[in-house]
Amino acid sequence: MCGIVGYIGPKNTLPILLEGLSRMEYRGYDSAGVALISNGTLLVRKRAGKVADLAKKIQGDGQLPECHVGMGHTRWATHGEPNDVNAHPHTDCKNEIAVIHNGIIENYLAIKTKLQREGHHFSSETDTEAVAHLIEDLYKQTHDLFEAVQLALQEVTGTYGLVVVSTHEPDKIIAARMGSPLILGVGDGENIVAADASAIIQHTRQVVYLEDGEVAEITREGFRTSTIHGAKVKDKRVHEITFELSQIERGGYDHFMMKEINEQPETIRNAMRGRLLVEQGNIKLGGLEHVKDKIFNAKRIILVGCGTSWHAGLVGEYMLEHIAKVPTEVEYASEFRYRNPIITKDDVVFLLSQSGETADTLAALREAKSKGATVLGIVNVVGSTIARESQGGVYIHAGPEIGVASTKAFTSQVTVLAQIAVMAARAKGMTETDAKVLTKELDSLPQKVARVLQDSHLLKKLAQEFKDARNFLYLGRGANFPVALEGALKLKEISYIHAEGYPAAEMKHGPIALIDENMPVVCIVPKDAIYEKVISNVQEVRARRGRIIAIANEDDTEIAKMTEFVVRVPRTYGFFGPIINVIPLQLLSYYIAVARGTNVDQPRNLAKSVTVE
Ligand code: M6R
Repeated sequence: MCGIVGYIGPKNTLPILLEGLSRMEYRGYDSAGVALISNGTLLVRKRAGKVADLAKKIQGDGQLPECHVGMGHTRWATHGEPNDVNAHPHTDCKNEIAVIHNGIIENYLAIKTKLQREGHHFSSETDTEAVAHLIEDLYKQTHDLFEAVQLALQEVTGTYGLVVVSTHEPDKIIAARMGSPLILGVGDGENIVAADASAIIQHTRQVVYLEDGEVAEITREGFRTSTIHGAKVKDKRVHEITFELSQIERGGYDHFMMKEINEQPETIRNAMRGRLLVEQGNIKLGGLEHVKDKIFNAKRIILVGCGTSWHAGLVGEYMLEHIAKVPTEVEYASEFRYRNPIITKDDVVFLLSQSGETADTLAALREAKSKGATVLGIVNVVGSTIARESQGGVYIHAGPEIGVASTKAFTSQVTVLAQIAVMAARAKGMTETDAKVLTKELDSLPQKVARVLQDSHLLKKLAQEFKDARNFLYLGRGANFPVALEGALKLKEISYIHAEGYPAAEMKHGPIALIDENMPVVCIVPKDAIYEKVISNVQEVRARRGRIIAIANEDDTEIAKMTEFVVRVPRTYGFFGPIINVIPLQLLSYYIAVARGTNVDQPRNLAKSVTVE
């Protein structure tokens, strides 16, 4: 959701803001804007569309003067359609205070109505503008921007990552956080605040995470923070950003998504590095050491996530129940909190999240924690809120994932879950010999995934064949049912073709009615324990002349006789199959989207990190 960046320092601010915004554009990309302070005047420029459109507008309007304080925003609309007026920053009546915001101000209508009655003039349909006017009102009383922001936020309910600049106090930036991430980059004579580290890394590696309910006053020389109620915040720890700039660049690929798909041999390896003890048939996960007994004795493991992370959880359920024999449930984070789940202190809840900032998943974490469960994160972004609020966990170490459609995070999440399953199985009595079969198989996965990637040209051909399809069905059974869901989600997200994933045998209870000679049906048919069963479902599709694309093992000599197209993948242990079988589905979606000319990395209506409920 919305990208936020603010800079104060000796450098010309506008290029820093535009650069930061384009790095964060994957967070939201329907409109963009900047506010700069120049000689006591607030200069605001905003535009519907991409950051590049904003940059063009600024150039067209005549360059802005060199400024040393400013902030920028890329928007993912919640209140009010994406247009020039609703784009952030929003200002007060006199154009002296500007606000950018990520999140939702739930009581904005009440605030707006009251302020309008008092004579404030509003220009936009957004919730955010109410905050600008509220600060204006309170500044008249306090004559102190920091305090005015604090008082305003005491009146606000909802979530925010908020940045404020004002001509009243032009040598500072005020930033505040409640539920939407904000990171402070601490430089030498300059400071930068942003919604994520990608906008900061070029300037400094030293960062400080703002906590919920915290307000910061940022100057060139430093910063101070307190809570919105004025309580002191204990010394803030400075963390170091661990990734490299090159990791957030496209590196020669046309799209981040393709780069990230191709990184998977490496990212899967990274998810196991130092953890997989192949020869001992065991797993060592440092972040779970202190809660190992809780996991091994858990009455129940609950895996919670959204979207692709939820799909990874579904695969995890198969692995944990089959390999480790632990009763496991998987929950949509968005549903978890509101159905008042029965959670006990004997439950272990894993929160799965690439970004570590997803609002629904974070809310689920807090719900489970408040009910006494052990809450553990399986997260990609180091230092993210879910990682910090968890009582332990495992980083998947996939590196920055910029493409809005998640790819490498899925395979890394599943790889981590596989390791948790093997670790728990060993603790519960699996022999070293049996476990070694699994650890060796895990060890071979990166190289098998690399083999699938080598054949990507086949998927490109298939994409040409099916790019005009209106619907797709994806079928899989067992641990490959979630792969069917994931394949369908990828296609929907980036090509806008309607697609559904189903357990293959469930098809005959309804979706079979859709099958005719125009319906592409992707069947995931590895040679595992339920191969024959899936083949029966394939035959059912065939009998109705569906156009079958089979994802099958290299040594399957029968499948080609039954299906129109076959994509070959290496064989692996059944429950690890999703890590390999999802790769052709990612590639197929990618190539279809490219063939249809959609925006692969920034598909319509979506945002990378969903920080609103
Ligand atoms: O960052 P998270 O893993 O918590 O994100 C969860 C979903 O929003 C995410 O997986 C989403 O479904 C992706 N667009 C899928 O490609």
